[in-house]
Amino acid sequence: MNTILVTGGAGFIGSNFIRYALEDAGFKGRLVNLDKLTYAGNPENLSDMQKKYKGRYVFVKGDICDFKLLERLFKKHRFDAVVHFAAESHVDRSIFGPKDFIETNIHGTFALLETARQAWAGRKDVRFHHVSTDEVYGSLGRTGKFKETTPYDPRSPYSASKASSDHLVMAYHHTYGLPVTISNCSNNYGPYHFPEKLIPLVILNALEGKPLPVYGDGLQVRDWLYVGDHCAAIWRVLRKGRTGQTYNVGGASEKYNIDVVKGICAALERQAPSAANPALKGKKYLQLITYVKDRPGHDRRYAIDFSKLRRELGWRPSVTFKEGLERTVAWYLANPAWVKNVKSGEYRKWLNKNYRR
Ligand code: NAD
Ligand code: DAU
Repeated sequence: MNTILVTGGAGFIGSNFIRYALEDAGFKGRLVNLDKLTYAGNPENLSDMQKKYKGRYVFVKGDICDFKLLERLFKKHRFDAVVHFAAESHVDRSIFGPKDFIETNIHGTFALLETARQAWAGRKDVRFHHVSTDEVYGSLGRTGKFKETTPYDPRSPYSASKASSDHLVMAYHHTYGLPVTISNCSNNYGPYHFPEKLIPLVILNALEGKPLPVYGDGLQVRDWLYVGDHCAAIWRVLRKGRTGQTYNVGGASEKYNIDVVKGICAALERQAPSAANPALKGKKYLQLITYVKDRPGHDRRYAIDFSKLRRELGWRPSVTFKEGLERTVAWYLANPAWVKNVKSGEYRKWLNKNYRR
């Protein structure tokens, strides 16, 4: 593999993946990051990579729905692989307005598949890896885990759009022989996570003394996966996974939401005690927990069986939830400038200045 197209590389997982490929996996070729820079895309996540790997890391601002742009990029860079992260990713936003989810997650994936099929013209030494979610499998009861063979049962506009994209990817494999793989993973957390999602939202709200919103009874379960472990899994599937296969990726860390929030409060008390934080006005972080109205159609429990990935490719998560949470809290405390930019919309001004077309 000489040249990889990464879509959505300015987002949370995509930027961690680019960093992982260049710094940890020892990838020596070129990575082209195609990202539209929606509210969730932040090129600042990779500004150091841009400097360090000049020429080997290339950023292109653009939309995966833009066929002409995709054709131009495939012609110019002769990609050997695509790692497709670009998506609208937030369930709550999909409930308020599903349109962008249908556009990017379904039409955008189709545009990429079709462009790859034409550009690669039957080549077998290439790979299209699609990054998907455990949410396509629906919601679990108290027991059981999602396997690769679990029937799809998406229940939110977000998960329905991801399920559609997964079906398109597999259809391109079965119909046209496109060498594809899919990974379906559980909730990621770690550095560069946009603060609309539970863990970064709670960390940053707590530091400002704001309420920590817990939906419904807080007894929903998610299986938390440290983002670095996820990137290692994707890299392994990309290099060694069997084409036409799906691999589930999980963190072996099932937690009730309320326990996640309490865990963050405990980590903050260790690393940035509330007693020394004037925003807390004498309260403990735990006292900020506020139960709020539930998310409509809220899936109760997710849990992942990743035994196929372990058996076939030798992957397993390496970071425990406790360790991952400590690291994540430490990262947010150590990066106030990133937080300030993301929260203030400053990076948007920076974007307009740097990526004016
Ligand atoms: P994110 O929202 O942080 O990043 C998405 C990125 O895609 C952003 O940089 C955004 O600018 C870009 N993008 C959006 N629309 C685009 C378009 N039309 N063209 C080009 N770029 C576009 O998302 P994330 O959390 O990093 O998730 C990445 C992928 O992983 C998604 O496909 C998501 O469904 C999947 N996933 C995420 C999680 C998780 O816990 N975050 C878990 C399972 C699967
Ligand atoms: O399972 C994988 C999915 O995980 C990914 O496909 C999605 O892209 C990603 O956003 C994530 O979806 P969730 O909806 O699970 O993530 P979120 O962080 O929004 O919510 C995690 C849980 O916490 C969920 O049960 C809802 C709850 N929650 C969320 C927020 C933002 C709260 O209780 N309060 C909140 O304020």
